[in-house]
Amino acid sequence: MSKVQLPVHKNETVTGTVLDLTYQGNGVVKVDHYPIFVPNTLPGEEVTVKVTKVTKNFAWGKLISIEKKSPDRIDDPNWAYLQTGIAPLGNLTYPAQLKFKQRQIQKLLEKAHLNLEVAETLGMDQPFGYRNKAQVPVRMVKGQPTTGFYKRGSHDLVPIEDFYIQDPAIDQTVLVVRDLLRKYQVPAYDEETHRGVIRTVMVRRGYYSHQVMVVLVTNGEHFPHVAEITREISERVPGIKSIVQNVNDKRTNVILGTKNHLLWGEPTIHDNLLGIDFTISPLSFYQVNPQQTERLYQTAIENAGLDGSQTVIDAYCGIGTISLAVAKHAKHVYGVEIVPAAIADAKQNAANNGIENATFVVGKAEEQFAKWQAEGLKPDVVIVDPPRKGLDAQLIEATGKMAPQKVIYVSCNPATLVRDLQRFAEQGYHVTKPIQPVDQFPQTTHVESVTVLERTEK
Ligand SMILES: C[S@@+](CC[C@H](N)C(=O)[O-])C[C@H]1O[C@@H](n2cnc3c(N)ncnc32)[C@H](O)[C@@H]1O
Repeated sequence: MSKVQLPVHKNETVTGTVLDLTYQGNGVVKVDHYPIFVPNTLPGEEVTVKVTKVTKNFAWGKLISIEKKSPDRIDDPNWAYLQTGIAPLGNLTYPAQLKFKQRQIQKLLEKAHLNLEVAETLGMDQPFGYRNKAQVPVRMVKGQPTTGFYKRGSHDLVPIEDFYIQDPAIDQTVLVVRDLLRKYQVPAYDEETHRGVIRTVMVRRGYYSHQVMVVLVTNGEHFPHVAEITREISERVPGIKSIVQNVNDKRTNVILGTKNHLLWGEPTIHDNLLGIDFTISPLSFYQVNPQQTERLYQTAIENAGLDGSQTVIDAYCGIGTISLAVAKHAKHVYGVEIVPAAIADAKQNAANNGIENATFVVGKAEEQFAKWQAEGLKPDVVIVDPPRKGLDAQLIEATGKMAPQKVIYVSCNPATLVRDLQRFAEQGYHVTKPIQPVDQFPQTTHVESVTVLERTEK
């Protein structure tokens, strides 16, 4: 078999213009239509690149020099942030990041020949320091337990103190814990030997409540100097409400184990979202950018046009954030979610907030939709907030049969959104407003949006 002749080979130096930015934030340089993906390059830039990896359909390159810079470039982006994936768009100005996200959706719509408008991305005034949760790996570096972040695609720790997109109070808390681990010489976990004690430091801080939870993830029950470390954290961290040891003795990339020991304070913290009080435990899912989550869900709820008389389904409801906010404006809300613990949280949160017109069910949304449809449930509005893989075709069909007037689609993946919009069209649902991107994760490539669909005749 003859070998295919590729336009470039490994270690070759190529010069060219960056034509596009992929959904992962890499620049694209082409040689005879053959793409080379180059991290930290931006559209319009003229660059010199060294080819580092070649495959049949594309290559990877490393930036050597920029001959012409993009006006959208942030000079001297923090290389550690780009490299670790903390801020893969950290080399782009914020207005350009917002345009990039709008454009991601537009490009996919064009590819699918869907002539739909996409509104400008709703961004943050302060697009950093927004995360209310950190999960920071701990490794031995030069003989010291050290906190930082993994280099993208690896488990090499890059030591970092300012995590840039996390609440600065969380960064401070991580440093307090790191210094105590150093003071008491608690060995960090070693993935290769499966030895050592501390694997991860997780910190959560309520955006409105300012309550702080510290979770120390250990490789087994053994935790030397736990009493001293706990006492010092409780004395030094402002707003501390809860200190928990989580045991994870498995050889796994999964961060948290299933066993928690309360070391100090309360087992949970509280925060508010859309005026609802939420109880957050170490294992609970909770949105990580509360300010933008409020905007995203507010946009979804406003578009639902509720006046208290409607029946609403909230599919993929998680801990019921949307359901509980909608309940105030609806006759009844039905939520479905696959994770039993999330539904337990949703029910508890409903009770704590005195909400009685919400029903939560554990199950696969696609199966539950078929059941609801068979039982004759007639929702006026269906809200969906699926994971990245989007909606199951069965769920879209069942929605068509239940015939709600509106479907509000909250999406975290424009590719599956576009696919699902085409499937909804087959059920007689059409997009009636510009798709609204909301920037939930500034400095990263994640694209979230709200789409309003209405039933027209098939
Ligand atoms: C984007 S999150 C929605 C979060 C939710 N709106 C909240 O605020 O808590 C997607 C949710 O879908 C759930 N999920 C994934 N596959 C599912 C399925 N087939 N049926 C129901 N829920 C599913 C996940 O566990 C996750 O909670």
